[in-house]
Amino acid sequence: MKDFLHISDFDKATIMKILDRAAEVKALLKSGDRSFVPFKGKSMAMIFAKPSMRTRVSFETGFFLLGGHAIYLGPDDIQMGKREETRDVARVLSRYNDIIMARVFAHQDILDLAKYATVPVVNGLTDYNHPCQIMADALTIIEHVGQLEGTKVVYVGDGNNVVHSWLLLAAVVPFHFVCACPKGFEPDKETVKKAQRAGISKIEITNDPKEAVKDADVVYSDVWASMGQKEEAAYRRQVFQGFQVDEALMKIAGPKAYFMHCLPAERGVEVTDGVIEAPNSIVFPQAENRMHAQNAIMLHLLGV
Ligand code: CP
Ligand code: NVA
Repeated sequence: MKDFLHISDFDKATIMKILDRAAEVKALLKSGDRSFVPFKGKSMAMIFAKPSMRTRVSFETGFFLLGGHAIYLGPDDIQMGKREETRDVARVLSRYNDIIMARVFAHQDILDLAKYATVPVVNGLTDYNHPCQIMADALTIIEHVGQLEGTKVVYVGDGNNVVHSWLLLAAVVPFHFVCACPKGFEPDKETVKKAQRAGISKIEITNDPKEAVKDADVVYSDVWASMGQKEEAAYRRQVFQGFQVDEALMKIAGPKAYFMHCLPAERGVEVTDGVIEAPNSIVFPQAENRMHAQNAIMLHLLGV
């Protein structure tokens, strides 16, 4: 597999190997050791059609810490698909760079980039999925809960790109995944079927958050209006009433439940300030792990 586009493109052994490597390189970097520079002499092009803090900074810093150089191309720079066709962008960037990371709107754009690029392409979020985020989340769960296998992860909110990556992880690694979302905001049916057909994990889609969070190891939240949907924000705030992760919902989840959120969060909307600031909230270790998970993904793709 040349590219990292969907977690389910990889088998369980490869995903677990990447997560182990992430932990190993994380420990090295945290010790202050800067002698591991496998990306020395390598460059990465980073295409952003949408805004970002974590994805941009974690990829750029991670690639730099391992010896490489990363180039940020923002929404106004190359205007992929507008100023220039995606297939031309892919082939030109492949001639300068060893790897391409992209955050785009239409999922087809990342598929086209990967098809025409001769170097690995990493998905930094599309309207459909966000695989690097869920790799970082899996690493964070392993660190805090002890293991991913058997863990009950309850996502509360919109059945969006983050949920699709949870489902595609559940198609490969066994755990218990529950998505509690308002009616009409369920994740993509085909993706749910794909994950269920794999027969690896217990997967539930429900419209009842209170029932869903019982006995959760992790309660997970994301914004109700994703990038590209901000004009629907007011409408969604009405429809999503009852899906805010607040102290009462965390109480139902029970004392062992951690709170996770991919961030950025809208405090007071999908999650209360108190839940994000509580001692069992692990949103900042989770954000940190973006860098470590991605470093390991890039090491895998570049074969170093
Ligand atoms: N979680 C995440 O992808 O954050 P950014 O949008 O800031 O990159
Ligand atoms: N679902 C969110 C995730 C942001 C990291 C979005 O697509 O905007």
